[in-house]
Amino acid sequence: MTELYDEVGGPDGVRTAVALLYRRVVADDELGPWFREVDLDRLRAHQRAFLAAAFGGPQAFSGRSLAEAHEGLEITDAAFDRIVQTLLTSLADLGVAHDAVARVGERLEQVRGDVVTA
Ligand code: HEM
Repeated sequence: MTELYDEVGGPDGVRTAVALLYRRVVADDELGPWFREVDLDRLRAHQRAFLAAAFGGPQAFSGRSLAEAHEGLEITDAAFDRIVQTLLTSLADLGVAHDAVARVGERLEQVRGDVVTA
């Protein structure tokens, strides 16, 4: 459990943020198509992995590396920016402090090279 995880509100805060994030992602014209064919279990796995990358804390990866998981999905820099921005906006909307939101963005930036495959 990292300090950042606590700042975002611990398990309750994170659960709320994830629910808001995925409602926005799935409804988004640019991001939605990537997730439309993904079943609920995999979507949940994705949420956990995404948050582990964002906040630290327990890794919940299926065993595939991030690069392997996104191979062939043709994820663009723009899509990566957009999902990160959607998370950051959701956190800010939920009242997470500006400084903590900025640090989440910095953490996610570190996995860009593994996720962007276009
Ligand atoms: C930014 C950090 C990200 C992390 C840490 C992350 C993590 C992961 C992981 C661990 C998996 C494999 C899940 C599994 O095998 O159970 C996965 C799959 C996937 N990711 Fe990501 N992801 C990120 C960003 C993105 C972005 C930006 C997109 C698209 C816009 C995306 C779309 C997908 C899709 C479509 C899958 C395939 C789901 C499936 O297995 O059917 N991811 N991601």
